[in-house]
Amino acid sequence: MSTTDIVILAAGRGTRMRSSKAKVLHSLAGRPLIEHVLASALPLCSGHCVVVTGHGAEQLEQALAARPLRFVRQSQQRGTADAVAAALPALHPSGVVLVLYGDVPLIERATLQQLLAAVTTTQMALLTVQLAEPSGYGRIVRATSGAVAAIVEERDASAEQRAINEVNTGVLALRTEQLQQLLPQIGCDNAQGEYYLTDLIELAVANGIAVATVAAADPSEVAGVNDRAQLAALERHYQRRQADALLAAGATLADPARFDLRGTLAVGEDVFIDANVLFEGDNRLGNNVTIGANCHLINATVGDNAIIKSHTIIEQSEVGPGSVVGPFARLRPGTVLAGECKIGNFVETKKAQLGHGSKINHLSYVGDATLGRAVNVGAGTITCNYDGVNKHQTVIGDGAFIGSNSALVAPVTIGAGATVGAGSTIAKDVAAEQLALTRAKQLTVPGWKKPTKTEPQ
Ligand code: UD1
Ligand code: CA
Repeated sequence: MSTTDIVILAAGRGTRMRSSKAKVLHSLAGRPLIEHVLASALPLCSGHCVVVTGHGAEQLEQALAARPLRFVRQSQQRGTADAVAAALPALHPSGVVLVLYGDVPLIERATLQQLLAAVTTTQMALLTVQLAEPSGYGRIVRATSGAVAAIVEERDASAEQRAINEVNTGVLALRTEQLQQLLPQIGCDNAQGEYYLTDLIELAVANGIAVATVAAADPSEVAGVNDRAQLAALERHYQRRQADALLAAGATLADPARFDLRGTLAVGEDVFIDANVLFEGDNRLGNNVTIGANCHLINATVGDNAIIKSHTIIEQSEVGPGSVVGPFARLRPGTVLAGECKIGNFVETKKAQLGHGSKINHLSYVGDATLGRAVNVGAGTITCNYDGVNKHQTVIGDGAFIGSNSALVAPVTIGAGATVGAGSTIAKDVAAEQLALTRAKQLTVPGWKKPTKTEPQ
């Protein structure tokens, strides 16, 4: 097996994006376009993966610094052939090279594998696609034998050639020696005065190298992103595809067109996801989980039979089986609900562990806290975890009851079975089974009368 190198072209300006950001760094489903290309292509690379940069080169090199890539700069954008020529010195001379575009994000690994499999010493491979509306793309011109003869760019095409529906995707694979042989022969005598990589095809045929084609089944797999409208359309297509995969996996989506997944989502049986739910990062939902409308889950794990009511945000947290969260709850990173827990409206938690059956039903902040089993936290309870400099822990034992509108000044421990009276500020530990309260005595003023309205002077 010869070495497979990969070249990803990403030097173009992306003028039509009207952006200061390099085009291939724009996001599709929460990941930069070029990351999608890398996800498909890198596993096929046994040599070097070379990214050709130009416009926004530094930005791109910085964003991809952690990836196993080589960057080459194309100083002037003189066309796709010139871009590949810039990468040539970084390639293994006796290997195979796969050329990809950074702005064609949905290319699939299986397609690229097919392409690589078609490369021999006497044959290169080109990925094409049939488009009902081919405008903007290079057309594939075939000889009467059916063999590929050339690619003609739209600007240079005759009316007859423009009627061809088979178009160039830009993706191709060939032996590096062939590239070395043919690239220097490419000129710039065309409508744009650029060095077109597509001219390689006609030159290959003239030099006795056959051109095999692989057809992409789905046009969106090879759709390029040139402007924000195309990006938005591709995002919807991608989301719909993910939604369909979830439906096939047995989840119900109230509206597959109003579902967004920017990451991964594993689902159990009979999951129900209402409209406008957004998932980011890696999420897991158990069996019979219900997610209400307008929820936002980021790296969340939700156990069997749990119900997440509408407008709830769950980040980097675990919701145990049978728990009910929301509406309008916010679980911040480090929240762990054991099981059968209840978190109600306008409750914020952070780094908080709740034992089985514990409840925080209304209007509370519980952070840096460990609650035992069956704890009941009344409305308006605040764990005062921050003294302005450091964070401190609150520990509440099994079965404790925290009366409404209490402030628990951490570090503080409330013993198992203890009760805190409503409206208390608790700054000292409370022993198990005790009642603690810090409440001014209520008094009734004898003989008090409501003031009466006086006439202005
Ligand atoms: C190109 C193809 C066309 C094909 C279409 C598919 C050529 C001449 N035309 O046209 O046949 O149907 O893609 O999407 O190849 N780039 C560089 N350096 C340059 C020029 C471009 O790195 O000097 C990069 C761009 O950043 C982009 C890719 O190459 O990632 C394609 O360039 P673009 O200008 O978008 O080509 P198209 O006109 O779309
Ligand atoms: Ca393009």
